[in-house]
Amino acid sequence: MGVSLVCTGCGEQVDDEKALRCPGCDGPLELPEVVGSRPGPWVPGETLIERYKDFFPFANGRADLSLGEGFTPLVKLDGIGKRLGLSVLWGKNEGANPTWSFKDRGTLAGVIHALESGYSRIGTVSTGNMAASVAAYGAKAGLETVILVGRGLPREKLGPIAMYGARLIKVDGDYGRLYYESLRLAKDRNIAFINSDAPFRVAGSRTIAYEICEQLNFTVPDWVLIPVSAGGNFRGIARGFREFFLSGLIDKVPRLMAVQADGCSPVVRAFEEGSPKVDRFDSPHTVAHAIENPFPPSGNEVLRLVRENGWSCRAVSEDSILEACLGGLPGCLEGCRQRRPGRVGSVRSTSVDRERPQIHGGVRTARSDLGGKHTGKPRERFGPTVTRSARTEITPPSSPIVLLYLPFTYGRT
Ligand SMILES: Cc1ncc(COP(=O)(O)O)c(C=O)c1O
Ligand SMILES: [Zn+2]
Repeated sequence: MGVSLVCTGCGEQVDDEKALRCPGCDGPLELPEVVGSRPGPWVPGETLIERYKDFFPFANGRADLSLGEGFTPLVKLDGIGKRLGLSVLWGKNEGANPTWSFKDRGTLAGVIHALESGYSRIGTVSTGNMAASVAAYGAKAGLETVILVGRGLPREKLGPIAMYGARLIKVDGDYGRLYYESLRLAKDRNIAFINSDAPFRVAGSRTIAYEICEQLNFTVPDWVLIPVSAGGNFRGIARGFREFFLSGLIDKVPRLMAVQADGCSPVVRAFEEGSPKVDRFDSPHTVAHAIENPFPPSGNEVLRLVRENGWSCRAVSEDSILEACLGGLPGCLEGCRQRRPGRVGSVRSTSVDRERPQIHGGVRTARSDLGGKHTGKPRERFGPTVTRSARTEITPPSSPIVLLYLPFTYGRT
């Protein structure tokens, strides 16, 4: 395949497409930015990778590995939208994916990459959606699949992973420990770990943004709210909008909001405190298990993207998470409003419209160009609407759409 990766932390080019973290600064890696062309009319049976082939470095779309992921519906959430005082609110129902979460997009990309790079084993670190997804796609591809789980995991959580025939390896320690153990195993045992922020998984998440643009006829919502755990999905969606913008397919990039649960909000805390880095969140606890990650491996990158683009970061209460489930879609809305006690109905669109985020500027000099080279130029903002001033007011929406991104909740990460 021969693609170089770029470090999101220090901007260095890493000429090893199998790498998962930067050898220099341990930052998460990403694929170089892509400029592509507008996808043609939809062809029945076309897979996600085939449709967006310009944006992936694969030699072959490998339709044989697909389980029918992506192309998930945008659903109008009139009830919740009205209660929040929004004129239009959409939910992207990622629960409609084959294993019920958006993870399937990145898993497919990761599996194709693993096969094109000569791996015969794949793996991941998860007890939830990602484990089920990797196990299912591993089975489809006929690959040996290894899932690292914490030793204390209850038996009932193992079933959905084990039923695909994956090998479960129990490890002592929390998610962070498992994550770094997987990096060791990746090297020692030559396993392609498609973890939450692995470069090709993040690349797969871009398709959520591509689809939203297509579904809204190449207009974009004012806001896209994204639940954040490890941070890989947020990074992918941000990148997807940026690539469509750079490709001339949309005329602006929507503002993104990183949403976490009050009971586990390390990125939001760092944002609100003005900290340069995300610290571990002690005693995490939330009903939204899938986003309960106390020390997100891509947290710093999410923080930087939010700050540099003048986007936003919010934590939501347990009550509001539960109330939001009443919207009627399967799964759980992992957050659709700012931290504020009381009922959903008490929150109006002011929660997103009138905020005045503090932007802690800092021009970064590391960014890939198309060839994945370190350009040395300051990183561009995603949209033309915000400036890198110390304090920026976000103006009221120009088009009456706020999009709520809605995944299915199951297990952890
Ligand atoms: C349902 C659901 N929503 C959101 C997330 C957060 O994604 P990320 O870990 O990429 O931030 C996850 C991660 O596992 C998830 O399973
Ligand atoms: Zn680095």
